[in-house]
Amino acid sequence: MILVTGATGTLGRPTVSLLEASGHSVRALSRQPGPDRVVADLSTGAGLTAALSGVTTVIHLATGANTHDSHHMRQLLRAIAAHPIDHLIFMSIVGVDRHALGYYRDKYLSEEFVVASGVPYTILRATQFHSFVAKLFTAQRRSPVTLVPAFSMQPVAVEDVAQRLVELVDAGPSGHVPDFGGPEQLHFRELARQWNAAHSVRKTVWSLPVPGAVGRSFARGVHLATRPGDGRIRFAAFAEADARSAAD
Ligand SMILES: NC(=O)c1ccc[n+]([C@@H]2O[C@H](COP(=O)([O-])OP(=O)(O)OC[C@H]3O[C@@H](n4cnc5c(N)ncnc54)[C@H](OP(=O)(O)O)[C@@H]3O)[C@@H](O)[C@H]2O)c1
Repeated sequence: MILVTGATGTLGRPTVSLLEASGHSVRALSRQPGPDRVVADLSTGAGLTAALSGVTTVIHLATGANTHDSHHMRQLLRAIAAHPIDHLIFMSIVGVDRHALGYYRDKYLSEEFVVASGVPYTILRATQFHSFVAKLFTAQRRSPVTLVPAFSMQPVAVEDVAQRLVELVDAGPSGHVPDFGGPEQLHFRELARQWNAAHSVRKTVWSLPVPGAVGRSFARGVHLATRPGDGRIRFAAFAEADARSAAD
């Protein structure tokens, strides 16, 4: 039995679908009850013991907007210590060991907790998801211009990352595995241009440098994987699919 935390999230949904399609038994963890779900809260640890019953592999995808994810990881590892498993797969982010962003630094702390725990593990770092990049553009839907940060991204499709996670389940504990990036590195200006073109929007795109240590980390490309990455789906295809579904 595979327990997936964050099963209701952007990456969790395609991951659960692909695992089931490849014949795995899956238990989806959520704070909200629902069909085929187990209810647990990683902030408090409530429900984790029952969630782990009969589980051999955990894919940890949960992330909380207002909490430190390393706290979630500590709660999870504490529960796993009482109910040992064969394999913990942790979804991390490319460059977390070198990036100044607080969310990324906390992710790195989670990685360190996993490595120190003695639990057989795989840590996969991915670049930013297509939908994450697109949020910047949809937030500016009504703005006469699109403002973007002056650096490049290597966005990746969650379907591609989910496929990689299924491969990692089948591979067994593999430690740190190579970074997983999207098929192309594109400046944010170009990503905005592709998004606007797909949505038949004509407006100017302005790029602005991001100040401080966080801006320097992005400008240095700490968040980028090797080029081209292993992901197959391009951002332009994601933008076109989004525009089609909005028109339906
Ligand atoms: N977004 C990106 O660009 C990106 C890039 C690389 C890696 N990642 C990593 O990939 C993972 C998945 O990201 P995502 O974008 O799919 O996340 P997401 O869509 O924001 O989903 C977050 C998930 O976490 C669960 N969750 C939040 N707080 C919880 C708690 N206290 N207890 C139990 N579950 C909790 C939510 O479940 P319920 O609400 O159902 O409880 C939800 O399913 C994260 O670790 C993220 O850091 C993201």
